[in-house]
Amino acid sequence: MSTKENLKDAFAGESQANRKYLAFAKIAEKEGYPGIAKLLRAAAEGETVHAHAHLRALGELKSTAENLQEAIAGEQHEFKEMYPKYLEEALAEGDQKALNSFRNATAVEQVHASLFIEALEAIQTEKDMRTRAIYVCQVCGNVVLDSVPAACPVCGVKPEKYEEVK
Ligand SMILES: [Fe+2]
Ligand SMILES: [Fe+2]
Repeated sequence: MSTKENLKDAFAGESQANRKYLAFAKIAEKEGYPGIAKLLRAAAEGETVHAHAHLRALGELKSTAENLQEAIAGEQHEFKEMYPKYLEEALAEGDQKALNSFRNATAVEQVHASLFIEALEAIQTEKDMRTRAIYVCQVCGNVVLDSVPAACPVCGVKPEKYEEVK
């Protein structure tokens, strides 16, 4: 494998370790191990440093306009090609948990893509997006602006499941 491929692989691995350790930290908190939870969060942060360094070495960190274009292409690939295929296979295998997870992601990637398109349009007219309150559904990942809906439009959960992004 070339170093470029190694960097891509290492980026994927470090990114996954970051999200895993954060999930492990939540479990450790719940099980009553705040000290271990803190260690897991610290290691997760270290993995993020590695992931970002690999990305930088790959030359994949560009201007915000270019980054948004890449993000839009990624989200569109996910909801137009990747998840539809995954949904079909999960349906064929009768994997209800995977179906639920893929359905939530498919719906929310469309929201992400349209918000990023809005952001890119703002840049193209030489503006930033207006700074506003943004909330994320902790069940399906849906993103909403300004205020929390009475029920999540994607997964139907109550407003308490939305957390504000700082
Ligand atoms: Fe997304
Ligand atoms: Fe939701």
